[in-house]
Amino acid sequence: MANTILVGAQWGDEGKGKIIDVLTEQADVVVRYAGGNNAGHTVWVGKQKYVLHLIPSGILRPSKLCVIGNGVVVDPVGLVNEINGLLKLGVKVEKNLVVSETAHVVLPYHRELDAQREVLKGKHKIGTTKRGIGPAYGDKAARVGLRMIDLVDPARFEEKLSRRLKENNEVLKALGAKPLSFKQVLAEYRTAGDYLKPFVANTVVLLHRAMSRGEDLLFEGAQGTFLDLDHGTYPYVTSSNTTAGGACTGSGVPPHRMDRVVGVMKAYTTRVGEGPLPTENADISDLLHGMGREFGATTGRARRCGWFDSVATRHATMVNGIDDLAVTNLDGLDTVETIRVCIAYRDGKKRLDYVPNDAEILARCVPVYADFEGWLTPTHEAKSWKQLPAKARDYLKAIAELTGAKLHIASVGPGRDQTIFV
Ligand code: GDP
Ligand code: IMO
Ligand code: MG
Repeated sequence: MANTILVGAQWGDEGKGKIIDVLTEQADVVVRYAGGNNAGHTVWVGKQKYVLHLIPSGILRPSKLCVIGNGVVVDPVGLVNEINGLLKLGVKVEKNLVVSETAHVVLPYHRELDAQREVLKGKHKIGTTKRGIGPAYGDKAARVGLRMIDLVDPARFEEKLSRRLKENNEVLKALGAKPLSFKQVLAEYRTAGDYLKPFVANTVVLLHRAMSRGEDLLFEGAQGTFLDLDHGTYPYVTSSNTTAGGACTGSGVPPHRMDRVVGVMKAYTTRVGEGPLPTENADISDLLHGMGREFGATTGRARRCGWFDSVATRHATMVNGIDDLAVTNLDGLDTVETIRVCIAYRDGKKRLDYVPNDAEILARCVPVYADFEGWLTPTHEAKSWKQLPAKARDYLKAIAELTGAKLHIASVGPGRDQTIFV
């Protein structure tokens, strides 16, 4: 398959987990490179649903190796729970999961600070997942973070934790929050550290050895392009580089070894949390929620829904270098008579064909729409391009063309067999 980076081309939850699971068949190693357990990637295998948060979605293919790269922030207690959850469902994890020793550790004070900062922001809150992601990446950048290599070394971990907890407890007290107990945090994290020790390794060397054996790597993006710390709708973003460049820094695999970028996008748009979403629309939100769809895989929050935004996805093609597109949830539009697609924004009298960097400007932009006739036919049983209604094919071709990349996959349901290679 060659080395492939898969990214979300919208605001996250595009169906990356499902597409990773499908593409893993052709890969040898699947690598998460950014984010933490703020991610929720859903995979259905037959009637069994799996939601992965830190572990790559490739884990459901038993012969493949899964790597949590250095760019990920790992909540060790969360990871232990996730491993145990998979083991209970009969998924083999012990032999095919490796965690980078330089991945940073999410600590309870990160989660507490995440929550407190949201309270302080009041109506300007980001709507984070409260998993401590922002504060953990903040510590990494400030060079005061603890890494997996520290966690699995009891003496070193105790010493570093004691220093960091002292400072953070002062901050928490100043914010009116309860300080954390050193003893309790230490005990909890030591147990997780002991459990995780056999999984921790130098993943940069491991990935380069795999490449020298001719193995193919699949990089699993988390979140989406517009949640990227640099390229998203700042400050309504996450704290990592979710875009394709993050796959290099977050894994230690250099740019010239990357062969292809796949962008995953829904046939419409969703966003969970605060921040601008130009095509947000109450009717399509009600329709999808009424079908029991578009509730967050991590927090259970109802996702905000809107029409497909090709200004945004075109921007995503640009910053990620997307070659191939996987369009998911086509079936979500099966009952819609007139399907709208945003082709430009209007900011007052100005027409914009790109995403403005100022979230306040984006928030006041009004979409310019092109309308498409709906196909009004169920698509979830279609097994090939030919079996899709002609109007659905036209719609897919149009959104791919507007996005500026090649249509590669159309997904008509959450299952493996509901995947059409174009
Ligand atoms: P991710 O974070 O990008 O992996 O996406 P999520 O798992 O958070 O959300 C995507 C949701 O859409 C999940 O519930 C998937 O099972 C579901 N899904 C993915 N592709 C399709 C599709 O083509 N049709 C339908 N009906 N559901 C899909
Ligand atoms: P996957 O990988 C959708 C959103 C949060 C919030 C913002 C910042 O499943 O697509 P954070 O907790 O990261 O500090 O929150 O980012 N967010 C996601 N939205 N899908 C995700 O991951 C997300 N991860 C974070 O809702 O708006
Ligand atoms: Mg998700």
